[in-house]
Amino acid sequence: MVDPFGRTISYLRVSVTDRCDFRCVYCMAEDMTFLPKRDVLTLEELDRLCSAFIEKGVRRLRLTGGEPLVRRNIMSLIRSLSRHLESGALQELTLTTNGSQLSRYAGELAEAGVRRINVSVDTLDPDRFRAITRWGDLGKVLAGIDAALAAGIKVKINAVALKGVNEHEFDDMIRWAHGRGMDLTLIETMPLGEIGEDRTDQYLPLSTVRDRLSKSWTLGEIGYRTGGPARYVEVAETGGRIGFITPLTHNFCESCNRVRVTCTGTLFMCLGQEDAKDLRAPLRASEGNELLAAAIDEAILRKPKGHDFIIDRDHQRPAVGRHMSMTGG
Ligand code: GTP
Ligand code: 5AD
Ligand code: SF4
Repeated sequence: MVDPFGRTISYLRVSVTDRCDFRCVYCMAEDMTFLPKRDVLTLEELDRLCSAFIEKGVRRLRLTGGEPLVRRNIMSLIRSLSRHLESGALQELTLTTNGSQLSRYAGELAEAGVRRINVSVDTLDPDRFRAITRWGDLGKVLAGIDAALAAGIKVKINAVALKGVNEHEFDDMIRWAHGRGMDLTLIETMPLGEIGEDRTDQYLPLSTVRDRLSKSWTLGEIGYRTGGPARYVEVAETGGRIGFITPLTHNFCESCNRVRVTCTGTLFMCLGQEDAKDLRAPLRASEGNELLAAAIDEAILRKPKGHDFIIDRDHQRPAVGRHMSMTGG
């Protein structure tokens, strides 16, 4: 699959549920209304959809949410998809998770061929963690991370950089993550969906953070990329890496390799644009994949050049109406 700007699409992110057991302040309003179950694709439909994308050239697949591990029977989907790892059609099957259910699932994930996961941890302070997630238990998440590491899964930590909230913790988080062999990626908060507050107050440009970090650490430019939006530096003192995801201060769209599908089967060609293509109707219209494949082809030809996020006091409305939990980051 090649889009109009010559970018090869080889990476698919699938949000398997819009539900989550947390309500992170930058992600959701506290009183979120979730999608009615009947609109959500069954696990069998999600499997067909992912498989159709793999047939069309997707080599890396990431399951997201909401929280992917709160979807009932999620392991049956993951185990089924792992057949594409065994056949060599898929190079990587991964997950982005909040870690709350990891203690329970780590062993099974490793057995199913999941080698690498990304876990969101914005703070190492239990009270602050509860405040950011609105009720999350940090201890449970940390135990989940340990379980994943013990099962041999490589873990990357994601932290959304929030002004006045966790910005003083990054040094500690670097020590903690790198001490366990985990990369740490910092993310600028993106204007996605109403959250009941003004994001301008939370927004922290990562260029500032990087300048600050370079006073306490020796940061070396490295060409390391995962195919994702993060730019990595290596910390000489720890040997670990810090990734910066900077949709607002530095646009990385020219090398975009990805599209995303929601749990209702809507294909979004860009996280930061509204244009979408319904894949549920062609998926349900026939048992064969011809209609689905044609719909995917048509959508890829519409992939936009990039997103245009802005956060400032004159642009109070989110750039995109839907929440990250719907599109899956
Ligand atoms: P790897 O590089 O494979 O580890 O994954 P990743 O960093 O792309 O995935 P992850 O799920 O950990 O996402 C981290 C953050 O990057 C999330 O906040 C995503 O929303 C954001 N992100 C991922 N892809 C894109 C993208 O195409 N555009 C934008 N603006 N943000 C993205
Ligand atoms: N801006 C930036 N990152 C966000 N995430 C959720 N909502 C936002 C937002 N508005 C992050 C989560 C997780 C990843 C999938 O997306 O913290 O790490
Ligand atoms: Fe849930 Fe992730 Fe959103 Fe937090 S950021 S509410 S963990 S989907």
